[in-house]
Amino acid sequence: MERPCFLKCASMSFVMYCVFAMSFLAIEATTNITTDQSSLLALKAHITNDPYNLLANNWTSSTSVCNWVGITCDSQNSRVVALDLTSMSLTGTIPPHFGNLSFLVQLFLRNNSFHGSLPVELVHLRRLEIFHLGNNSFQGEIPSWLGSLPKLQILYLSLNNFTGSIPPSLGNITTLRNLGLSNNNLQGNIPEEIGNLINLETLILRGNQQISGTIPPSIFNISSLEIINFAFNRLSGSLPDDMCQYLPVLQKLIIPYNQLEGSIPSSFWKCRELLRIELYYNKLTGKIPGKIGNLSLLKELYLFHNSLEGRLFIQLWKTFTNWGRPGNLRLSPPPLEEIDLFQLVKEVDSTGTNTTKSRQLYLTMGYRFEWKPLDWYDDKI
Ligand SMILES: *[C@@H]1O[C@H](CO)[C@@H](O)[C@H](O)[C@H]1NC(C)=O
Ligand SMILES: *[C@@H]1O[C@H](CO)[C@@H](O)[C@H](O)[C@H]1NC(C)=O
Ligand SMILES: *[C@@H]1O[C@H](CO)[C@@H](O)[C@H](O)[C@H]1NC(C)=O
Ligand SMILES: *[C@@H]1O[C@H](CO)[C@@H](O)[C@H](O)[C@H]1NC(C)=O
Ligand SMILES: *[C@@H]1O[C@H](CO)[C@@H](O)[C@H](O)[C@H]1NC(C)=O
Ligand SMILES: *[C@@H]1O[C@H](CO)[C@@H](O)[C@H](O)[C@H]1NC(C)=O
Ligand SMILES: *[C@@H]1O[C@H](CO)[C@@H](O)[C@H](O)[C@H]1NC(C)=O
Ligand SMILES: *[C@@H]1O[C@H](CO)[C@@H](O)[C@H](O)[C@H]1NC(C)=O
Ligand SMILES: *[C@@H]1O[C@H](CO)[C@@H](O)[C@H](O)[C@H]1NC(C)=O
Repeated sequence: MERPCFLKCASMSFVMYCVFAMSFLAIEATTNITTDQSSLLALKAHITNDPYNLLANNWTSSTSVCNWVGITCDSQNSRVVALDLTSMSLTGTIPPHFGNLSFLVQLFLRNNSFHGSLPVELVHLRRLEIFHLGNNSFQGEIPSWLGSLPKLQILYLSLNNFTGSIPPSLGNITTLRNLGLSNNNLQGNIPEEIGNLINLETLILRGNQQISGTIPPSIFNISSLEIINFAFNRLSGSLPDDMCQYLPVLQKLIIPYNQLEGSIPSSFWKCRELLRIELYYNKLTGKIPGKIGNLSLLKELYLFHNSLEGRLFIQLWKTFTNWGRPGNLRLSPPPLEEIDLFQLVKEVDSTGTNTTKSRQLYLTMGYRFEWKPLDWYDDKI
């Protein structure tokens, strides 16, 4: 190990890498289960409230670390590989010593009241695959050094108080499968580097009301994406018309309550796995592409509170009826042609439900369209 590293160091471009790698090895060489124990005792010392005495009576030097609640060691009991303190009602901060848990693979602190910022020493947790801090009160910026954790698969910082912008360096973690940053106080653009995360399955940025700008087109090139949730932000611009070209397994596209404009991408029907589309409360215009009706798995389509117009195609109608009888509609089987939304509205009216007034049209369970009454009576189509 030393020799090749020395040779590589001869090349200037590797000097930084080697300095970094050697300092990492140095830390590993000097740590052992005793270091793990003192790291965890340091964490315990930074817990200011433990109402059920979960750690107080359990994390004691009289028993092996590997028997402590929330701790998993490797098979030789030589090092701590997982720490799970989920939902223990703990209040506290993470001390720098925590960065000495160098064999840690899984870290769950979710659903507690941890606060403070993330100490830079955590960058030494090189084996970390799961970093789940959801539902705490962590604050400060999301550190850019997270981008150099080489094995991270799940990064979940949702429901905290993080501020600042999303670090572009997160785009370096190509092992990442789930990225959840929802319900923080993040702002700025979504970095286009996120599009480098070629193994990403879920991308959840919901509820950061200052995240703005357009969605970088590179996001729509992540062909592993199953869930996109950008709800309740301030995103603008339009969805690229070919956005489904490279999203073969997308199941949920959830972008309501933003400022999207332009029309609904005509390529939607290429996202064959779509189950749910939520685009309500945006500024979308134009017609609903009839080919949406070709999405045989689609169960929920929410488009209300936009400025859309259009006709409903027969295949879409078939999707509806497969799913159950339309609530208060009593229609004979529609003819094999386009169904005109105006017609549907009239039918609903004839049952006594004044939908023109409520501005909502419930076609059947889960299928809800809302149009402005003006659009209904405008003879646009
Ligand atoms: C600590 O908790 C673990 C897991 O609940 C339990 O097995 C162990 O006996 C406890 N140790 C002490 C000293 O209470
Ligand atoms: C979160 O923790 C609290 C206890 O602090 C518990 O009552 C609640 O059920 C937990 N919520 C989830 C979603 O785990
Ligand atoms: C553990 O981490 C602290 C703070 O980062 C450091 O000062 C200390 O030397 C480390 N201890 C060991 C045994 O590596
Ligand atoms: C978040 O924490 C609060 C307070 O402990 C709890 O009531 C709530 O259920 C938690 N939510 C989730 C999603 O964990
Ligand atoms: C978030 O941080 C702001 C200031 O940084 C503070 O005023 C607010 O109380 C914090 N909210 C939570 C839920 O911790
Ligand atoms: C990580 O990403 C940043 C910003 O995108 C970049 O400047 C940096 O070179 C990357 N670092 C590594 C180690 O790839
Ligand atoms: C998306 O991928 C296609 C095909 O690989 C490529 O031509 C295009 O430049 C990519 N677009 C972005 C924004 O990365
Ligand atoms: C529906 O999808 C099939 C392939 O599954 C395709 O052959 C057909 O042209 C599509 N029809 C429309 C209207 O897009
Ligand atoms: C429905 O609303 C329209 C316009 O607001 C009104 O003229 C009509 O009387 C209402 N019909 C019923 C059945 O309430």
